[in-house]
Amino acid sequence: MKAIHTHAVGGRTTDLSVYVNGKFLPQSEAKVSVFDHGLLYGDGVFEGIRAYNGRVFKLERHMDRLFHSAKAIDLKIPHTKGEFANIVLETCRHNDIKEGYIRPIITRGPGDLGLDPRKCKSGPSIVVIAQPSINLLGKVYERGLKVVTSSYRRVPPQSLSPSIKSLNYLNNIMAKVEANQYGADEALMLDIHGYVSEASAENVFIVRNHTIVTPFTSTNLPGVTRETVLELAPSLGLEAKEQFFTLYDVWASDEAFITGSAAEVAPVVEVDGRTIGDGKPGPTTKKIMKAFRDLVMSTGTPI
Ligand SMILES: Cc1ncc(COP(=O)(O)O)c(C=O)c1O
Repeated sequence: MKAIHTHAVGGRTTDLSVYVNGKFLPQSEAKVSVFDHGLLYGDGVFEGIRAYNGRVFKLERHMDRLFHSAKAIDLKIPHTKGEFANIVLETCRHNDIKEGYIRPIITRGPGDLGLDPRKCKSGPSIVVIAQPSINLLGKVYERGLKVVTSSYRRVPPQSLSPSIKSLNYLNNIMAKVEANQYGADEALMLDIHGYVSEASAENVFIVRNHTIVTPFTSTNLPGVTRETVLELAPSLGLEAKEQFFTLYDVWASDEAFITGSAAEVAPVVEVDGRTIGDGKPGPTTKKIMKAFRDLVMSTGTPI
């Protein structure tokens, strides 16, 4: 856990330097108000971004999603996308990041105890954390993930658009808690109609013959990693399809994997007690994992 909270610079272990509303503060002093509506109501948006080999991967794409999420909740970011991208890069520089995980957070800001956003008169709180590593799933990449289907359905777009990467993650957290209770590595979530939606914080793919299939993004987050894998497919001789599918299709698939900025491309070898393929990360998944790694190591915005 040490890497999450501190990082080593020149052999010393030191605090992260966190961007908070225009200033870089040591992490012990990086705070927002207890009246912040991000804390009180989950009223805010965020991103999860990776840096590899001294570059930020798909920075523009993450800025687009961040600004679209903010617009969707009618939260005005007091920066242009270019300015915000520079804040992200600057935060990386302040922390000497070559490889790492970056978390921009924009909340409605401090208000009073009523939920009306108009009470947040001082404007949004803006935080950017950049840390040198993330270890989301531990050592499961070689053996593959065991996944269980959650009894919680993904919040439907009629209630809250899943395209908004908001600070309201309880629906996903409930699924993750359930997976933990069953001793699984991850949870698979269905949409309200019973079609496969996504994992707790990752998109889902299945492999059938030489086709990779992922659900449309109508009930899940349009993941940057998902998009990247769809773009990589043709160069790997794979057909890629977006399609609604059911648990039956997952159980009967040749291979399955999940994708996310934190999880990257992670093989799934068991779903609801059923072995997927031969129970080991499959050849197509491995091919995609390698192509993804090659891409992230060779592209991105220089820090
Ligand atoms: C609910 C949810 N789905 C999918 C993803 C994967 O998206 P990305 O590949 O952009 O990280 C994430 C992570 O951001 C997420 O929180």
